[in-house]
Amino acid sequence: MRIDILTTFVEMFAGPFDESILKRAQESGQARIFVHNLRDWTHDRHHKTDDEQFGGGDGMIMLARPLIEATEDLRRQTDGPTHVLLTTPQGRQFTQSVAEELSTREHVIILCGHYKGVDQRVIDYLQPDEISIGDYVLTGGEIPAMVIVDAIVRLIPGVVNSIGSVQEDSFTSGLLDCPRYTRPRSIFGLSVPDVLLSGNHAEIDRWRLEQAEEQTRKRRPDLYRQYRESGKTVPEAEDPSS
Ligand code: ADE
Repeated sequence: MRIDILTTFVEMFAGPFDESILKRAQESGQARIFVHNLRDWTHDRHHKTDDEQFGGGDGMIMLARPLIEATEDLRRQTDGPTHVLLTTPQGRQFTQSVAEELSTREHVIILCGHYKGVDQRVIDYLQPDEISIGDYVLTGGEIPAMVIVDAIVRLIPGVVNSIGSVQEDSFTSGLLDCPRYTRPRSIFGLSVPDVLLSGNHAEIDRWRLEQAEEQTRKRRPDLYRQYRESGKTVPEAEDPSS
């Protein structure tokens, strides 16, 4: 997968993309990630990427020309189809299923929205997939772009060592994760549940599912309802109150 990111804050991406799984994915060639300075597509002396809005009002608006020309240039870098994303609080909500859908794309271009937003003609012309990472407003689209890249790259087959580990993720199953433990068996008067030390894998699987269901029911009734409606729940673990 190739990912191109267009931003005026290139340096922000150095840390997150140069560590851990994202670093390994790039070294192995599973993900090719390029961060581009939008100013490289400006034509004026000051490399202007934004301006005041028509009609008045606070906040600068990102210019249409650099975003559109840069996107068109980057599209031509690959032969196949390109999926263009725009990070914006006005977008559709980013979820694990959106991440799964995006992780199958060959070429993704992410436009980082900034300031008060982008000129509407960027949206009209490029028709990007507008994505919000949550119902809150950040200072810009760079952190959302990092979140999106992290979530989709780890889903590329082979990037996370164990396929099982990705399939067991919270949300992939429709449930939050169950509690997990490691050594020592007892600490500060708190012990690992006996079932996890029993060696009985069927029992362990059942306990984990029950815990995940219980956790989801209490913390995220919205997710739990969807999970129940999907019919995935095992009969023995069904909620007796409903
Ligand atoms: N830009 C500012 N806030 C954002 C959000 N919540 N999601 C995506 N882009 C943003």
